[in-house]
Amino acid sequence: MKNKGLMATVIVILLFLGATLVYQLGMSRGNDQAATTPTSEKAEKTVGILQYVSHEALDAITNGIKEGLKESGYTEGDNLTIEFQNGQADQSKLATMSQQLLNKNADVLVGVATPAAQALANVTQDVPIVLGAVTDPVGANLVADMDQPGGNITGVSDKAPVGAQIKLATELMPEAKTVGILYSSTEDNSKYQVAEAEAAAADNGLETKKYAVPSSNEIAQTVQVMAQEVDFIYIPLDNTIANAMQTVVGEANKTKTPIITSVDTMVEQGGLATVGQDQFTIGVETGKMVAAILDGTSEPATTPIYTFSDGETIINEEQAEFLGITIPDSIKNDATLVNGEDTTDSSSAE
Ligand code: TRP
Repeated sequence: MKNKGLMATVIVILLFLGATLVYQLGMSRGNDQAATTPTSEKAEKTVGILQYVSHEALDAITNGIKEGLKESGYTEGDNLTIEFQNGQADQSKLATMSQQLLNKNADVLVGVATPAAQALANVTQDVPIVLGAVTDPVGANLVADMDQPGGNITGVSDKAPVGAQIKLATELMPEAKTVGILYSSTEDNSKYQVAEAEAAAADNGLETKKYAVPSSNEIAQTVQVMAQEVDFIYIPLDNTIANAMQTVVGEANKTKTPIITSVDTMVEQGGLATVGQDQFTIGVETGKMVAAILDGTSEPATTPIYTFSDGETIINEEQAEFLGITIPDSIKNDATLVNGEDTTDSSSAE
């Protein structure tokens, strides 16, 4: 005990001496710099980002957030510290990481995807939280109102143009009668979009079957069942499914069942088509909203949720060919065509 006490005292003294030295060095450097530092340079800030899981879309959004911050005068390593955590789709990790980010005294917290934003919202009602690509902020109990959020939360919603997606599906597959919706039963963001897709399908004369998976373990088997029961598969902005897109495509390809997705990254991975928003751009918008709060020029309570009005048509031409689907010229002319290298990969692997 005695020794420990002595050690502690010595450590405290050493730390104090060290800190004093660093401080004095900093002061003298600061004085040198004072003349050259532009007055417009913004104060040092810390932003905590919690990303739900790693899949291509969310990774692109996080990169976009950094770009948006940079465009607004906050550069990592310069006047910005970014504390980044990836929850790996694990609820208890998300809870712990949210608390850790809060403890870092972040000026603004950012939740990328709904479950991450919900975890952050559980640990603070004071520190501003910006939503990065949360489909349905009201339904996820994050804000009271899209235009007047009311609390410490605002941000970007990536609500998909569902009507346009289903319409595109019927144009590419005029013979289709039944759509199967594949989603995870644990994600609030998907619930909302599934309801929208059901309505849009009805409007377009399609019958809907819903397939909710409790976890990623059931995806392969569920897709096998779907392949027997539906004409095409529709996937909302669901993180669990996005994270397992290789599996979905692998199974669906066995019966040549087309997949309409909600995001370009999933078309690139072997989906047939979507009308969607560029994920990086969603991130950039999010980053700009973070910067405005750091600047003190906006407050979450009174800043409306940013939404995108429409999307871009993206078609995987190689996948269309594999499925025997002809893309009408009227659609092709306005669409961005991508080649899914996965189609050739999986067929050569078999
Ligand atoms: N909108 C999703 C959510 O609220 C997150 C998300 C953004 C996403 N882009 C995606 C999910 C692409 C799947 C695919 O959680």
